[in-house]
Amino acid sequence: MEPLGDYLMTKILLGYEIGTGNEVHMENHHTVVTGMTQLSGKTTTLEALVHRGKVKAIAFLTKRGEGGFRGQREIPAYFKEQRKGRLIDWQYVEAILEATMGERMKFERSWIIKVCKGAGSLEEVYQNIITEQKTARGLHESIYTNLGAYFEIILPEISKYQFADKIKLSKGFNVMNLIGVSDEMQQLIIESTLSYVLQKERDTVVIIPEAHKFVPQGKKTPVKATALRLIREGAAINNYLWIDTQETTSVDKAVLKQCSNWIMGYQQERNEVANVRENIGRRKIKEEDIMTLKIGHFIASLQQEIHHVYVLPASLEKNIGKLVAMGEMTVREVKDGLAMRDKETIRLTPKQNVSLETKEIRSGFTKDQEKVEDYLRSEKERDLTRKLETLQEEFGEYKESTENQERVYRESIDGLQEQDKKLTGELSKSTLRADLLMEKLVRYEVFEDALSTFLKPLIPESSVKVDEKTLERLIDKKINALLAKRRRKIEPEGETGMPWVDMWLPKLKKPVERKIVRLLAEKLGVSLTKDQIALATGYTVTGGTFNGAMSTLKNKYKLIKQDGDKYSIMESPP
Ligand SMILES: Nc1ncnc2c1ncn2[C@@H]1O[C@H](COP(=O)(O)OP(=O)(O)OP(=O)(O)O)[C@@H](O)[C@H]1O
Ligand SMILES: [Mg+2]
Repeated sequence: MEPLGDYLMTKILLGYEIGTGNEVHMENHHTVVTGMTQLSGKTTTLEALVHRGKVKAIAFLTKRGEGGFRGQREIPAYFKEQRKGRLIDWQYVEAILEATMGERMKFERSWIIKVCKGAGSLEEVYQNIITEQKTARGLHESIYTNLGAYFEIILPEISKYQFADKIKLSKGFNVMNLIGVSDEMQQLIIESTLSYVLQKERDTVVIIPEAHKFVPQGKKTPVKATALRLIREGAAINNYLWIDTQETTSVDKAVLKQCSNWIMGYQQERNEVANVRENIGRRKIKEEDIMTLKIGHFIASLQQEIHHVYVLPASLEKNIGKLVAMGEMTVREVKDGLAMRDKETIRLTPKQNVSLETKEIRSGFTKDQEKVEDYLRSEKERDLTRKLETLQEEFGEYKESTENQERVYRESIDGLQEQDKKLTGELSKSTLRADLLMEKLVRYEVFEDALSTFLKPLIPESSVKVDEKTLERLIDKKINALLAKRRRKIEPEGETGMPWVDMWLPKLKKPVERKIVRLLAEKLGVSLTKDQIALATGYTVTGGTFNGAMSTLKNKYKLIKQDGDKYSIMESPP
């Protein structure tokens, strides 16, 4: 068996070049390891790097069924509320709430700022919420109630556990086991650990698990802001982030940009492949290069240089790595070998590192996690019921207003029909009178004819000759003058209720125009057909006077508008 030997502190043996079996080393720096779950070997790679690089690394176990980092040195979870000076920072609280609720808190920001004022702990922020809630009304009250409810999820989590107030690190792995701890609390613990490293440690690697969850793109989490600070300020004192994720598309872009090592394993999801290629340079690798990788095989872009490597798992002899890289041994053989070894370790060392106390805490964590999940579920249900009630209320209001409107329309239709009946009555009376007059006229004409026949021989010839046509014209003129006088007399007066129409009326030359405008202004909001307008104004619907006036008012003055076969007054002056 060939010993692993010592490797340079900053140069870590990553694996063996495919085809040649040459060693590939990696400079310790901010690193991202990505690839499809279970089919790439991310955790195995990170384990191997910590082991071979002899680095001081902090890792977190966050998901059930996680096979990696087991049997490594465990350290107690560390948590300290983030403060600015001696006070709680409102941005920290906002990030906690956003991560808890999975939604932006932009709307609630001013309330959050208010309750954070003067608070030295999250508990004090909660107390401020309760105080404000007592006197708040309406919207304020409901926002304080919501904020209070979020805190009632978070605070019991914090007070439940005994957290370490220091982190004691050794070379190699320092694993915080957070399995069973709620997502919110995992966020707070990882954030606290990053803050601690930022302030107190050097030459330390922090491995961020499931980075798409803890450092997501486009969402705030407690971890994100601190991770960004560490990635920007860390390199100068050899503090590095190693990022583990199967979804680089969902990881914060600013964080990814700082990673000079990209170790990419098997991936089938095309968007993922495209994103990975985008980040290391499109032309450097092809889509198929990533989509055909086997377990433990990676394309590594190390400080811009591309290598195709087989990563040797921790504590295996060097020549195994070389053999696999050169195709003389299969990954399957190594994988099966590893599985056998793990079984043995489990049998020989039955979880020595897990004390009884830790076990109890873990089962406590699980129960509380279930309680929190139940609470969240019922909160979601309540939220949905509230939304449904608001919708029902809105629908009721809408229905009522539609019904009101319908009533108004029906009333105005009734009014119009009544008016129509009245006018029809008047019209038939007038027709009757016209018939009578016509009869009288005929009689008069007959009488006139008879009289003239009788008188003509008796009257001497007049010297002034008036022909019949001139006489007719004179009579017509006289009749028109008399009619106009009469119409003027019956033209209604007074205000229409539309000031701009009242100003317009005197400007209209023809009485018919004034009548039409006045009628439509008084019926604001109601449209009438030509027949109805002619009837109400006393003109013949087919007559030139009426039609001329309608088109002048519509096209020239733009005082009335047409919609289908209906007309109405304009809402505002032309
Ligand atoms: N280089 C390797 N050689 C042989 N087997 C490997 C190698 N890397 C990983 N494996 C095996 O593949 C399986 C998955 O590995 P690992 O847990 O590291 O994957 P992962 O990418 O971290 O998965 P997840 O996304 O689910 O965390 C394990 O059984 C592991 O032993
Ligand atoms: Mg893993």
